[in-house]
Amino acid sequence: MKDIVDNRRRIGLFRKLRILGLVMRENGIAWTTCFTVYYLASSLAEKAYGAMDRLRHEKSLPGLNSVKLNAEIWNQWDWSAGGEEWTQSEDWKRSLLKNVLQKHVPPKSRILEIGPGGGRWTEHLLPLAEHLSALDISQTCVDRCRERFSSFENAEFKVTDGSSLEGVDDGSIDVIWSFDVFVHINSREVEKYAAEFSRVLKPGGKGIIHHGTLGGKKGGWRSDMTADRFSEILESHSLAVTSQFKEWEDQGTTFQAGLYEDTITMFEKGASAAN
Ligand SMILES: C[S@@+](CC[C@H](N)C(=O)[O-])C[C@H]1O[C@@H](n2cnc3c(N)ncnc32)[C@H](O)[C@@H]1O
Repeated sequence: MKDIVDNRRRIGLFRKLRILGLVMRENGIAWTTCFTVYYLASSLAEKAYGAMDRLRHEKSLPGLNSVKLNAEIWNQWDWSAGGEEWTQSEDWKRSLLKNVLQKHVPPKSRILEIGPGGGRWTEHLLPLAEHLSALDISQTCVDRCRERFSSFENAEFKVTDGSSLEGVDDGSIDVIWSFDVFVHINSREVEKYAAEFSRVLKPGGKGIIHHGTLGGKKGGWRSDMTADRFSEILESHSLAVTSQFKEWEDQGTTFQAGLYEDTITMFEKGASAAN
């Protein structure tokens, strides 16, 4: 909707009124009234969104992305689809597994997953895990995952406070994985998480995190995070960004990391870095 509303500015008011007259003649009063309501309401919605965005940045407001709100929403979510409601298509998921998850998570890894939700990616991380720890702010998600993966003795699921990795030992993790989680986490909490990544990763350990790109400007309940800010935060904690991408190619098809121009960032803790 945003692009359509933006493009409306390309026609002046006088011509818009002429177009409205033509629309009325061709479609009648009832249809044209509904169209006018839609037109005005969507313009207003767009202005309201712009004002929300400005206020949020000027006053450092959490918007819809505070830890408390995230916990509330995800505890109440209907998890019956296991998170597959965010799977763009079967081909997209197959390609993401092949080109990102399985390509970059080596077998027998000690894995930390942040925000497993219903276990959409956990299911595919477990065969690669010597051990998997998964932390989520939602007790509902932790309970669901504990039940779903109860046969795996090498997996543990715990509730986190939303910005720390309490209980995860220093220098104990080979790979950190998080998908469709950091898109909802504000930079304030990401700063704290990044310090924790640096603490828990083994030297040479890496992270694969999917997050927002545009600071919430295009909606999608995205946090205030941008792709550049994410890199800056990681680098300030001695984590080297090795790759950042919004899409990938697979046999002639381009797949998007997310529906709102989201980014996947991969990073590494330098082999010489101390804990
Ligand atoms: C959109 S769901 C995605 C779940 C799963 N990763 C998937 O892709 O299907 C977001 C998940 O992130 C968790 N979450 C949100 N904020 C978090 C935070 N600050 N720390 C840890 N988990 C968080 C939610 O509880 C929820 O499980």
